[in-house]
Amino acid sequence: MLLSKKQPSAAATQWIEKVKYHKNRDSYFKFLGNPHFRYTAFLLVFLSLWFLLQVFWFPPTKPTQTKFSTTTPKPSAGKCNGDVAVYVYNLPAEFNLGLLDDCSHLNVYTNMCPHVANHGLGQPLDNMDLQSSDSNPWFATHQFIAEMIFHARVDNHPCRTWDPSKANLFYVPFYGGLHVSSNFREPNHAIRDALAVRLVDFLQAQPTWRKNNGKDHFLALGRTSWDFMRTNSGPDFGANCLLNLPCVKNMSVLTVERNPWKGSNQHGIPYPSYFHPSTSDQMMTWQNMMRQSNRPYLFSFIGAPRKGVGKAAIRDEMIKQCMESTQCKILKCDHGNPKCYNPSEILKVMRESRFCLQAPGDSFTRRSTFDAILSGCIPVFFSRHTAYTQYSWFLPEEASKYSVYMDEQSEESKRIEEVLMKIPKEEVDTMRATVIDMIPRLTYAHPNASHSDLGFEDAVDVALQALAQHVRDKV
Ligand SMILES: *[C@@H]1O[C@H](CO)[C@@H](O)[C@H](O)[C@H]1NC(C)=O
Ligand SMILES: *[C@@H]1O[C@H](CO)[C@@H](O)[C@H](O)[C@H]1NC(C)=O
Repeated sequence: MLLSKKQPSAAATQWIEKVKYHKNRDSYFKFLGNPHFRYTAFLLVFLSLWFLLQVFWFPPTKPTQTKFSTTTPKPSAGKCNGDVAVYVYNLPAEFNLGLLDDCSHLNVYTNMCPHVANHGLGQPLDNMDLQSSDSNPWFATHQFIAEMIFHARVDNHPCRTWDPSKANLFYVPFYGGLHVSSNFREPNHAIRDALAVRLVDFLQAQPTWRKNNGKDHFLALGRTSWDFMRTNSGPDFGANCLLNLPCVKNMSVLTVERNPWKGSNQHGIPYPSYFHPSTSDQMMTWQNMMRQSNRPYLFSFIGAPRKGVGKAAIRDEMIKQCMESTQCKILKCDHGNPKCYNPSEILKVMRESRFCLQAPGDSFTRRSTFDAILSGCIPVFFSRHTAYTQYSWFLPEEASKYSVYMDEQSEESKRIEEVLMKIPKEEVDTMRATVIDMIPRLTYAHPNASHSDLGFEDAVDVALQALAQHVRDKV
């Protein structure tokens, strides 16, 4: 039922055609070069019979099991893939769910109560134009909430084991990001760090920890690593010391932004966007819409000007260039422009654009990168640390296949329109096809999804498989 509705993507179809062509050509040449014609004729008859047997004996399988398998149902959908057996610690409530009791004080700037609802997906969005008979996959998801969604997904994951002796991964579901942001203004470092210190005390008392000194343990954090690596020099931004604790250095830490220089045990995971499908149908419907989307703008910029020098300079430069170009759509986010907080307005700009500028903000990475990819908009990066040094588990190895890079110091970044105009249309189309094929791996599926309906590998599946491999190499 589910299978029959699937269509291979345009790119997948092309690829299948290519493979078929090469296969046919190869056997054709072999055939000509073979001097034992009788043997060949016999082989031909045998192959024909075998072919007939295939056709009549086995029902035809859909030609979708290709390299773009992320969008196609696996034969083993609903089972655990990739040699993962993850044990989830049942932590005292103060480390996760208990923090939510005081959700209005979890962030010094924002009331987080609406955002922690629905396992961290936030409030449902009902103005999105994806027709769907299934549950609504759209939520106003907060950018720093990946840790909650990750937890809910792993809780309900087919690779979860309740038997620690069978586990190769130990997940410590600490809501460290929510906790640190509730303490940004705490002047006393000992108080600010107290919960992190209690966490490592708890872990080191576990027999499961001692077995491998925590090398098979991991955290997933919804904020950037900078918030957990307080330095003694420099201004105090409110960070705690979690990632500098010796115990945590033995673990793997998944984070939306790793420290590219001091983060050898840190691995980037996507920021959550607004799309949390429960079925592969919802995913494919959206991907097809993005393939067909009209994109009148060459490029777009969404963001606020920043005060100050350094990182801010490139932003002002971009806003200036975008406003001067007739082919650029700008969504300026100063003075609390409400459109900038409206997911449907943001995605509308992105799905009408061919390229989306990703300026570094307060840190290197941006949630906006993932909104752009979800919209089929090719990201343009100005720092290698916005994506390339961050999300190696999730992104194609060759950056030029899915993105454009202009170093912020380069001359190119002064002539963005000109550089983008020069990229041939066919190349833009191929890049966009790659971007749209990347969507499933960068999406957090709905945590309530049944794995047999899901039928694609989402960000949590990819992370668990890559992490299990990493830990196997490490332990
Ligand atoms: C997920 O399922 C649980 C119980 O089955 C339900 O209480 C909860 O509301 C569901 N969550 C979402 C986000 O739909
Ligand atoms: C970290 O692992 C090393 C072994 O590689 C071990 O000697 C050390 O005690 C561990 N640290 C903690 C805090 O468990």
